[in-house]
Amino acid sequence: MRVVICENYEEMSKQAAKLVISQVNLKPNSILGLATGSTPIGMYDKLIEANKKGEVDFSEVTTFNLDEYYPLSADNDQSYHYFMNEHLFSKTNIPFERTHVPDGEAANPEKECEEYDKKIDAAGGIDLQILGIGQNGHIGFNEPDKNLIAGTHLTGLTDSTIEANSRFFEKKEDVPTKALTMGIASILKSKKIIIMANGAAKHEVVSALMTPDITTDIPATMLKVHSDVVVICDKEAFYGKQN
Ligand code: F6R
Repeated sequence: MRVVICENYEEMSKQAAKLVISQVNLKPNSILGLATGSTPIGMYDKLIEANKKGEVDFSEVTTFNLDEYYPLSADNDQSYHYFMNEHLFSKTNIPFERTHVPDGEAANPEKECEEYDKKIDAAGGIDLQILGIGQNGHIGFNEPDKNLIAGTHLTGLTDSTIEANSRFFEKKEDVPTKALTMGIASILKSKKIIIMANGAAKHEVVSALMTPDITTDIPATMLKVHSDVVVICDKEAFYGKQN
């Protein structure tokens, strides 16, 4: 695991965007794995800017998002579909039909999950996966547990994740309690992985990534088995609260 410690959120966003831009410039038909949440928003802004300036062309790129709340319709403004359209897809030249987010309205969620993994495999696998990290160590919505699940699956969200994500909703009761998420193996099959973290609230979990231990209690520690992971974080996430 390589680590890039950045001065602040802006710098972290710039560094991560640089890697995505290099990936797409080297392989224009890259398959990108994408995350939602507050962490990657600044990076998406940089990608939009670079695309507008003609520094990167997304016209041949295919994307697969990590997760979606369940049940929730794509046009609900709290859905991850909506988030991606708002923060990236509608503002770049990524062809809409090449973007994929698990279907939060699927009548048969198990089938939807199975097909999602098949679609990723059929596209040739993810070249570069972007991840955020939950304060509890989740990646995607693979929550801390005794067992983790390999493939894309329907999962329940822990109280701490519901609490953390309630900041995006009017009230905590509105946060869906389930989600469709890529599994640990779906993520680990990616050729390269960037995991981003910012702010002191992520310090404890980022510290767990720096130890030799792997535990399903902190799902992100599973990334230590992968040979091409870069952690891009700011100083507060790495060192803790700065004065
Ligand atoms: C989002 C996702 C989650 C987030 C994590 C951190 O698609 O899969 O694992 O990356 O919850 O969220 P933020 O960035 O809001 O702190």
